[in-house]
This record gives sequence, C-alpha cells and structure tokens, in this order.
Amino acid sequence: MSTILRRLPPTAVTGLRTGARHSLAEVYRPADLIVLGLGVMIGAGIFSIAGQQAATTAGPGVILSFMIAGIAALLACLCYAELSSTMPTSGSAYTFTYVIFGEVWAWIIGWALILELQFAAAVVARAWGAITVAAIANFGVRVPDKEFVQDVLVLAILVLLTGVVALGARVGLRALWVMVSAKLLAIGAVIVVGLLYLDPANFGDFHVPPKTLDTAPATVLEVLVGQSQAFGWFGIFAAASAIAFAYIGFDVVATSAEETVNAPKAIPKGMIRSLVLATVIYLAVALVMVGMVSYTKISVDAPLASAFRAVGVDWMVHVIDAGAVLGLTTVILVLMVGQTRVLFSMARDGLIPRGLARVSRRYHSPTRVTLVIGFVAIVVAEFVPVLTMQELVVIGTLFAFAFVAAGVIVMRRRMPHLQRGFRVPFSPLLPALSLLATFWLLVNLRVLTWVWFTLWMAFGLFVYLVYGRRKSVLARPHAPERVLSTGGRHRR
Ligand code: ALA
Repeated sequence: MSTILRRLPPTAVTGLRTGARHSLAEVYRPADLIVLGLGVMIGAGIFSIAGQQAATTAGPGVILSFMIAGIAALLACLCYAELSSTMPTSGSAYTFTYVIFGEVWAWIIGWALILELQFAAAVVARAWGAITVAAIANFGVRVPDKEFVQDVLVLAILVLLTGVVALGARVGLRALWVMVSAKLLAIGAVIVVGLLYLDPANFGDFHVPPKTLDTAPATVLEVLVGQSQAFGWFGIFAAASAIAFAYIGFDVVATSAEETVNAPKAIPKGMIRSLVLATVIYLAVALVMVGMVSYTKISVDAPLASAFRAVGVDWMVHVIDAGAVLGLTTVILVLMVGQTRVLFSMARDGLIPRGLARVSRRYHSPTRVTLVIGFVAIVVAEFVPVLTMQELVVIGTLFAFAFVAAGVIVMRRRMPHLQRGFRVPFSPLLPALSLLATFWLLVNLRVLTWVWFTLWMAFGLFVYLVYGRRKSVLARPHAPERVLSTGGRHRR
C-alpha cells in the first residue's frame, strides 16, 4: 500500500477494552452532551443568518430552508453516531477517515475540520463583537468608535474562552450549563411572545417568485442551470446551504467521545437528541420571525430585533440581545473545545508536531494546543474579514459529512464484526441519502466559496506532503504497536 494511504489500525480507536489510546479525563455524562450540542449549535445561525437569508434569499420560504438543512443534518448525524459509537475518539471524522480510507484522506478531512472549527470560532467571535456593541447601544449608551470597541471585545472574549478551555473540560462545563439555560430562556421568550403577533398574511407569499439573474454571487447550481438563486426554489435551496451553518455542532459532540462516560452509547444519543431539539427550536424561531412581519421588513443587521420592533414590542430587543450574547459565547467555547480535540488527535498521530498532544497533568486537558488555537482564532478574527466566510465554514463541514456517510457504507463491508453502539437504520440507503443531501447542499454553495476551498485544500495537501507524511507515527518502524501504547486513561 502506498504510504499516503496507510491506515490507522481500528484497534487503536475502538475503545478502552481493546487497549485503545485514551489520555483525557472522563467528564461528560449524557445530559452534558445535550448541553454541549445546544451550546454549540444555537448561535449566529438562528440569531443572524436565518433573518439575513429570509430578507435576501428565501423570503418566508426560509422555514423550508431550515427543514431541508435539518434533514441533511439529521442524516449526517446518524452516520456520525454510528462511527463514533464504533470509534469513540477525539478526532471524530478525522480519525474515522484515518481508519477507513487512509492517511492522506484523514489529513484532508482534518484540514477541512480546521476550516470548520477554527474559522467558525473566529466568525462567531466577530458576530459576537457586533452583537455585543449593538446590545450596549440598545441600552442608550453611546459607543464612540464602534469598530475599535468591537476589536477590543473580540480580543477579550477569545482570551477569556481560551483560558476557560485550557483549564479543562470541567470548568467550561459549569459555565456552559448556566449560559445554555439562559440562552434557552431567551429563545423561549422569542417563540412565546412572537406567537402572539403572528399574522398569517405574512406567510401568504410563501414561495416568493425568483428574481432575474443579476444579484449576489452565483451558486454552483445556478451557474449549471443559468437561473438566479435569489428567491424562488433556488433561493430556498441556496438559503438551506447557508443555514447549514446553524446545524454545525452536533458533529462537535463527537469530538468529546474520549471524555464521555460510556461513550459508545452516550455519544449517539447526545448527538441525535441535541440535534432534534435544536431543529425544533430553529423551526419555531424561523416561523415566528417571518410570521410577525413581511420578510421585506426584516433587517439584515439585526433580524429578530427588527421583527419585534416592527410589531411594537421593543423590550424584546433586550431579551434577544442577552440571548444572543450568551448564546454566541457558548458557541465559541464549544467550537474551541472541539478544535482542540481534533488537533490534539492529529498531533498524537504525528501529522502535526507531536508536542501539541501533550496533556497538562494539572488540568487534564491539552493546554498547549488550546493556546495555539486561541492565538490563531484571535489573529483570524481581528485581521481577516471573517463575516464573509460563513460559507467556507459550511463547505468544510459538508466535506466531512460526505466522508462520514461514505465511511459508514465502507466500514460495514470492510469491518462488519466491529462492535457498534449504534447502527444507522436502513444502511446503506440512509448513508447514501446523506451523501446525496450533502452533495445537494454543496452545489448550492457559491462558486467563490468553492474556489477558496480548493485553494485551502491545495495548501493543506502541500503541508501534508512536506510534513505529516514523513512525521506520521505510522511512518515509524513497528508503528501499530507504538500507536497503541500512547497513554492510559485518567479517571477523575
Ligand atoms: N451552529 C453555530 C451557530 O449557528 C455554529 O452559531
């Protein structure tokens, strides 16, 4: 077998009883996983992107966009559930791919996950900065130099959260429970109060007629068929791809597998339950938002607030602000935790410097890699126009979804005897549908997103060829034995 296609032995990742590598403390119980999932999913997607897409691309059809993206996410989630119940490891899709398809593909997925998690943390941090400044201004406080204040706030939140992640999963978990509860209360208020102001007339034109081909940059599908993606069915599909951002997060739950008690059973349940809950919440919020006012009156900058202002319930603006500030904080926190776990796994395998896999004895967490991730998030959030990069995050995520779905099909054939804590029903039909749904969302992303993604991946491949290929643990003599002998689990 060619070196770049060498595969990690399944026994290295299938679970403690097989002697697999586990060096992080077990801290998560089933309820924690749901909080983790809701903590990372409910954020910019519902507070900002939903309204932006309603106003510019899908109209009231944004509800359908949420359903389409939700179905794709659920199919992908089932596939993630099977693989993480078989290989409960911090590397998630990266490690699954390493075992099933081989090293170069694993690297590619790891690189795509960096795009997903590292950039998403920066995107959401930037959105958090803007929302926090707006929240301060909504209290009547004059903010003199908004850009500067935002820069300082973004720096402060990222330094703070990096510290929390570095101090170990337990510290972050307590804060997470409190903030997620508060965010759910705020969202509950949005739904209940919003329902009182529903006007069915706003759904009247559910399927807004398409615009001609002159607006926003084109999606791949639009170029293929020569039809505009603004409004109409194309708008609904294009919005579904952008809205996939809101569903990012159930996959992050999979990265906590090594730290979860009874992971093969707990992780699938945690992922599926949190995704179903988030989907219900999203549909309810989207419904009240486009049901309260005509989509033409929704502001792109502060969508939910503008809907409540339009019906004269101005005090809700503060509730939304509080929910969004806390909500986005937990999103950044869990994204950073997920990113540390993926990079930690890549470092443990030697594909990035092994020193980054060092676990702090004091905090039982990979502090070194956490500091690197925090630093990169700050640089990206401060110096790159990240708010235009949401789709890049989505494409990285979808790429991993595709490999995970294909992985379920291949693994069932190639390793049928491995113990699975969860099995995707109707396989290979559902994994094949997951592949199809992911492909559909991918072609509804903009051409420009694909161009940037191709450049990012080409750069990643170059890094692998000059570094990872040679430094990989599997490149050493007697590699499989070494892979198995790195670390024993800490129990706390
Ligand atoms: N799903 C997360 C959000 O919407 C990334 O902010």
